[in-house]
Amino acid sequence: MSPSTDSRQIVIFDTTLRDGEQSPGCSMNLDEKIEVAQALVDLGVDVIEAGFPITSVGDFEAVREISRTVQGATICGLARCHPKDIDRAWEALKSNPDTRIHVFLATSAIHREFKLRMDKDEIIKRAVEGVKRAKGYCENIEFSPEDAARTESDFLCRVVEAAITAGATTVNIPDTVGYATPVHFAKVISNLVNRVPNIDQAVISVHCHNDLGLAVANSLAAVENGAGQIECTINGIGERAGNCSLEEVVMALRVRGDHYDADTRIQSPRLVPTSRLVSNITGLHVQRNKAIVGRNAFAHEAGIHQDGMLKERTTYEIMRPDDVGFTKTDLVLGKHSGRAALANRATALGYHLSGEHLQEVFEEFKLLADKKKEVYDADIAALIEKRMNVTDDQWQLVSYAVNTTGGETPSVSVTLKRGKEEKTTTFTGGDGPLDALFLAIEQITDTPVIVRDFRVHSVTRGKDAQGESTVEAEYQGSIYRGRGVSTDTVEASALAFLNAINRVVAGTNSSEQTA
Ligand code: KIV
Ligand code: ZN
Repeated sequence: MSPSTDSRQIVIFDTTLRDGEQSPGCSMNLDEKIEVAQALVDLGVDVIEAGFPITSVGDFEAVREISRTVQGATICGLARCHPKDIDRAWEALKSNPDTRIHVFLATSAIHREFKLRMDKDEIIKRAVEGVKRAKGYCENIEFSPEDAARTESDFLCRVVEAAITAGATTVNIPDTVGYATPVHFAKVISNLVNRVPNIDQAVISVHCHNDLGLAVANSLAAVENGAGQIECTINGIGERAGNCSLEEVVMALRVRGDHYDADTRIQSPRLVPTSRLVSNITGLHVQRNKAIVGRNAFAHEAGIHQDGMLKERTTYEIMRPDDVGFTKTDLVLGKHSGRAALANRATALGYHLSGEHLQEVFEEFKLLADKKKEVYDADIAALIEKRMNVTDDQWQLVSYAVNTTGGETPSVSVTLKRGKEEKTTTFTGGDGPLDALFLAIEQITDTPVIVRDFRVHSVTRGKDAQGESTVEAEYQGSIYRGRGVSTDTVEASALAFLNAINRVVAGTNSSEQTA
């Protein structure tokens, strides 16, 4: 049942580009972040948390570029309650007329004692100073008492009241470590509603982590008790077990409108394309049985279910596949398809293609359509992302040759280029041809990594299907993911490995602190 037309509007605050990007191996480059931000606008999110500008040059630039180029949602930047953080966040946001600064400071006893070494009064003083400094720049201020779910309730009320008096327009209640359960979290929120005298001057937001698998349930319990904003991410990505999944919480509110009588601005048919976009860009696969966007979310296997479905769909389906963006067929284009058809299909898949970018992808599409009779959605997504990953400061595969005869040590020759620089190496060794290929790439790029995971599977159907390879590489204790797609699986593997290496190189360049 749908929510009524005058139902309460819940603000959707998406933090895929900030908390989501903090998940191991989920870092995105600038072009990818802009693409995701635009997809979030199309999806209808209200607020996009674009990054944490003080943490690195890369984060600062991403927030600045998204602020400059993306319209249609409030753009938010995160800052600790430190003057330098707040100034840096504003520097990144200031070109956009619709922005929010999000300041946070931990409040729980554990964080006060062991992390901050501050007493309660000092915490309130710092929180108020942080909110006031941010307010000097921007009207729209969010304050988060980090680890709120484990904060003493009296103290939480004091902090929230002080933050609102200092100018916070949204007070976000994070369950930072995913410790809350629905009844407990409902009490945390109702306690604030009943005991903070100025609570009506701010929107109550919630930010739930999924360590016990309860992030969506806790967010819904909060909405029932007065929360007006939910912080969430696409596919639920985020620190550790992740955040509240946007697609799940949004569809729970919509499908159970009879109960919540609350809704969001989300265009639900954009959920699947946006989920695929984020999964493709981050290399983090969506589990098949994931609610709403998993491949099996609408698959009916049991005979009794299929029989019921044939008689009446609602016997076993509480929403339609197309409500969330699953299309009936994904066979779309062939070699006679034109540029406009390609651009249309790209939009349906969640991408924005125009001008030079469209032309480049179109040329590659024609080459692929010559090799393959049928070009599927996944092929198109792969072509677009291949382009997104290519910038002049990144290594690109020019050519490779692999020589291997049963039992002999493999030998490879690889040529890579970066901008105008081109390098070739020949290498003999490794545990097999792919290992040799990876070692040669490491040698040229001077980036030694440990391969932690490596997979190859086909992205589409048929003998001429494209192979997708994903690589998880460890470099200095951090995980970097790479993805490559080609009709040749060896090439797909080389591209995936190079993609991970490029992320290592970009990460080491951009993680340098700005302050
Ligand atoms: O989990 C958390 O507490 C956060 C805050 C910065 C809101 O991500
Ligand atoms: Zn978080």
